[in-house]
Amino acid sequence: MPATIIDGKQIGRSIRESLKPRIQALQEKGCTPGLAVILVGEDPASASYVAGKEKACLELGMHSRQCHLPAQAAEAEVLATVAELNRDPAIHGILVQLPLPKHVSEARVIACILPEKDVDGFTPVNVGRMVLGERCFLPCTPHGIIKLLQYTNITTKGAHAVVVGRSNIVGKPLANLLVRKDINATVTVCHTGTRDLAEHTRRADILVACAGLPELIKADMIKPGACVIDVGVNRVDAPDTKKGWRLVGDVAFDDAVQVAGSITPVPGGVGPLTITMLLFNTVEAAELACGLR
Ligand code: GUN
Repeated sequence: MPATIIDGKQIGRSIRESLKPRIQALQEKGCTPGLAVILVGEDPASASYVAGKEKACLELGMHSRQCHLPAQAAEAEVLATVAELNRDPAIHGILVQLPLPKHVSEARVIACILPEKDVDGFTPVNVGRMVLGERCFLPCTPHGIIKLLQYTNITTKGAHAVVVGRSNIVGKPLANLLVRKDINATVTVCHTGTRDLAEHTRRADILVACAGLPELIKADMIKPGACVIDVGVNRVDAPDTKKGWRLVGDVAFDDAVQVAGSITPVPGGVGPLTITMLLFNTVEAAELACGLR
């Protein structure tokens, strides 16, 4: 029997619905949650993510500000933009779209965001709090994956989770969340230095592919019945299409769906949850700033 397809759009919608009364309560206090997104350069994939974030904000009646800097912008300009947003009381959340151009240090820019406005959960302060299990903004994609597992009633306690990828944005923080007491998975993290990837992935009850490599995970690398979470968003050439490309995940979906127990599609799986958890964090940031928490 083919796998159950996990509907990220539906789960995302349901979480966003639960934010509406909180946003209304904030608006009644004269405090509309505000998110600022800084985009540097013209990368089409980044521009598309940023547009999706703005659309989702506006749909919920939140305030959205786009700060678009040219690819040649100096690091000092990016830092100055962050500093200005740090001071702006109408902005509760600041997101710097990654990757930044090579001449701009991501570490320096991220460290400049006030932790109480760091709705991506990327600053050293929030990462430290997350690892310590303290209150913080959790990074959106890992947090969204945890929500997907919970909404789909996937058993995490005692499960063996294999995370393929060790990025600061997904792999590292996700591995951290999965070992928390309330989730209680046993975690293996695989990366480019892993000797026999398939040997590890075949043992996974929950397999998370977040390596950024198109269709890295083939059907024979999946344990029958496993839950497969595909974080990949890869543009591959497709000369027969109008755009000239198509999106594929890090999992060879058409074959994997015959083996897995449940699986997220690309698009429509993890992506909608990432955006939803960004809005969730922004609402929380506004509540904290406006004295509702
Ligand atoms: N680039 C890819 N994913 C993300 C994300 O979740 N946040 C930011 N800021 N940049 C990204």
